[in-house]
Amino acid sequence: MPAGELFTVPPVRGGTKPEGSSRNKQKEYQLVRVKNTWCRVECRQEMPTTWEEDQVIVSQAKIGEQVTESGVSWVVKAPIYFCYKVIETQNLLNPSNKTLLYGHVSDPEEIDEYQKKTQKRFVVMDATVEQIYGSKVRKYFEAHNVVYKILALETTEETKSMDIVLHILEEVHKFSLDRRTEPIIAIGGGVCLDAVGLAASLYRRRTPYIRVPTTLLSYVDASVGAKNGVNFCNCKNKLGSYTPPIATFLDRSFIQTIPRRHISNGLGEILKMALMKHKGLFQILEKHGKYLLDSKFQSTNVLDCNDDAALKTTRLAIQTMLEELAPNLWEDDLDRLVDYGHVISPELEMNLLPALMHGEAVNIDMAFMTYVSHEIGLITLEERNRIVQCMQNLELPVFHRDCSFQLIKKALAERFKHSGGKLRLSLSTGLGTAEIFNNVSEETMMCAFAAWQEDLGEHST
Ligand SMILES: NC(=O)c1ccc[n+]([C@@H]2O[C@H](COP(=O)([O-])OP(=O)(O)OC[C@H]3O[C@@H](n4cnc5c(N)ncnc54)[C@H](O)[C@@H]3O)[C@@H](O)[C@H]2O)c1
Repeated sequence: MPAGELFTVPPVRGGTKPEGSSRNKQKEYQLVRVKNTWCRVECRQEMPTTWEEDQVIVSQAKIGEQVTESGVSWVVKAPIYFCYKVIETQNLLNPSNKTLLYGHVSDPEEIDEYQKKTQKRFVVMDATVEQIYGSKVRKYFEAHNVVYKILALETTEETKSMDIVLHILEEVHKFSLDRRTEPIIAIGGGVCLDAVGLAASLYRRRTPYIRVPTTLLSYVDASVGAKNGVNFCNCKNKLGSYTPPIATFLDRSFIQTIPRRHISNGLGEILKMALMKHKGLFQILEKHGKYLLDSKFQSTNVLDCNDDAALKTTRLAIQTMLEELAPNLWEDDLDRLVDYGHVISPELEMNLLPALMHGEAVNIDMAFMTYVSHEIGLITLEERNRIVQCMQNLELPVFHRDCSFQLIKKALAERFKHSGGKLRLSLSTGLGTAEIFNNVSEETMMCAFAAWQEDLGEHST
């Protein structure tokens, strides 16, 4: 936003006084804390010389003040700063690894302080994950003399609602934790992380939380950004907030116990990043897709990503995702490449619950959009076919009979409504490159749909 734009007062009937006139003054103040009191100092003015430099803290926040004929208006500009860590680790649940307890703390002196008192942790785990890893988590906390509570919950797309959030909040409240030093820990797939994130954002207005993703999809996607949420009124993630965790701890060994279909599901979101912005990642998926599925991302080499397709794939997926998310954590900019595959898929996924997994619905959406790209002439036939072939090699669905043109139109209308009156479509313009278009006609969509259905639909040969 250009400087000063916030301070522009809309024209008042009868005309406004020119800027700077005695009746229409505007000023901007910075906020300065001297000892314990915040005071304002007009931006262009020098600080009083009586203030000692080491007693003064200058905030990044500013207050604008405008005096008009109708009164005074103030505008607060307060940048909100978020800092969170995304940390790869191995053997997270081995008691010798202190990441789960202190990985979020940067200052070693602070860790020493924490260790002087008994630590408490409230842990929410997906019920299946708890069955497999619960005893390890217990042993971990017991080894560190931590007072803990594990809340095991069925976290599925069907239970992803405010009910689960309220249930978590009630239990957190009963457990009673020190909001500043005892983060809530979520261990599970994207549903668990999303619901706990929302609960944490509500408890005492924002309680720090930690994400430990246990599915591939949550490892590369749901755990690295700021968003959380639950479904509401049969709409996907309709309630939620932008509250990042204080840390995400990534341990790929959890992924070894998820079914093969869930690996494909996660590969759908990884392919999204590859198609949007990284040809190298696309080529890895093309070449090593089967290995990634077979090995469930359990590589032998955990440090050298040049040597290991699994490590390289997850690192590139996270790096490309962070590049797109970090400058736009609150999604103020509506032109987001990461929304690729999320235009039609929300309606498709919710309509077909529980038949389609999130990454599968995303992939069907991306397969259709690949045909749109080709229809417009943004990608060649060879590129289109390579993309579809790659999807099929990753064992992802590329078509669904319930994804009718009517559903596509309904989903597009919904996105249009929530995107500032513009249909913003991310479309491939090559392998690993994309742009956002807002002028794709319905006729183009229909032609793409017909070709998509003919090539990949159930009656295709
Ligand atoms: N916040 C975000 O930015 C973001 C991004 C992408 C997706 N999401 C959300 O993530 C959700 C999908 O996440 P998901 O694909 O992880 O699904 P999920 O959370 O439903 O987990 C899938 C299933 O895997 C089981 N499971 C999890 N970890 C396991 C393990 N290690 N071993 C065995 N079983 C395990 C769970 O019991 C669950 O039944 C969607 O609701 C989507 O909206 C959020």
